Amino acid sequence: MDVLTAMKNRTSFRSFLDEPVPVDMIKNILEDASRAPSALNMQPWEINVVLGSERKRLSKKLLKAFKERGITCGPGAARPLPETFMLRARKCAEDMTPLINSMGQDFKKYVNEGSLGFYGAPCVIFVFLDESFPCERMVDVGSFLGFVVLAAFARGLGSCPIGLVTSYADEIRDFLNISDSKKLAISIAIGKPDLSKSINNFKTIRAPLSETVRWVD
Ligand SMILES: Cc1cc2nc3c(=O)[nH]c(=O)nc-3n(C[C@H](O)[C@H](O)[C@H](O)COP(=O)(O)O)c2cc1C
Repeated sequence: MDVLTAMKNRTSFRSFLDEPVPVDMIKNILEDASRAPSALNMQPWEINVVLGSERKRLSKKLLKAFKERGITCGPGAARPLPETFMLRARKCAEDMTPLINSMGQDFKKYVNEGSLGFYGAPCVIFVFLDESFPCERMVDVGSFLGFVVLAAFARGLGSCPIGLVTSYADEIRDFLNISDSKKLAISIAIGKPDLSKSINNFKTIRAPLSETVRWVD
C-alpha cells in the first residue's frame, strides 16, 4: 500500500478480534515508525509493548481505577477551549453514537471502558517521554504516533490511539515498573479489527482547509 492510500483510508478501529498479532509484525511496525522525524534525531520516544494476557491483566487494573476515579475521555484542557474545537469534538461523538447504540451499547460506557480495555486489542504500544524534555518534544511523539498508525494500516492491521490512559499513568507506570520521571504520552491499541462490528465502519470527517489554513502570500 502506498503512503497516500494509507493516509486517505486509515481510521481508528474500536473493536478488535481476540487473536494474537505475530510479534514480528509488531517489530516491523515499530521499525517503520522509528523512521519518524524527531528534533536532532533524538528519537525521544520510549516504548513498552504489552501483549496478550498481560494486556488483559493491565486493563483489569485500569478499569478498577476508572470505577474509583471516573476520569473519562475528554480534551484534557486546563482552560475552556475555543468553540470551534469543541464543536468538532461534539460532532465526532454525535456521529459515532448511532453506530455504538446499534450494537446495543451506551456511547460513554463503550468509549471510556472500551478505551481502557483497548477495545479488545491483543497488543498495546505505550509511548513515554522523559520528564526532562520540554513539552515541545511531544511533537516528536506525535510524529511517531502518526507513523505507527499508518504502518499498522499498511500492514493490514487496525489501530486506535488511546489518550485516556494518561489519566491513569500512575497505575500504568506501576504495572510496567517504570519510574515517575517518565511521562506517559500516549498508547496505541493494535490488532485485527472485528469488521463485523458497525463501529468499525465509522469514518470521521475533516474540516475544510478554508477553516484550518491561512495563506500568507
Ligand atoms: C492523542 C490522541 C488521543 C486519543 N485518545 C483516544 C481515546 O482515549 N479513546 C478513543 O476511543 N479514541 C482516541 N483517539 C482517537 C480519536 O478519537 C480519533 O483519532 C479521531 O476521532 C479521528 O478519527 P480517525 O482516527 O478515525 O481518523 C485519540 C487520538 C489521538 C490522536
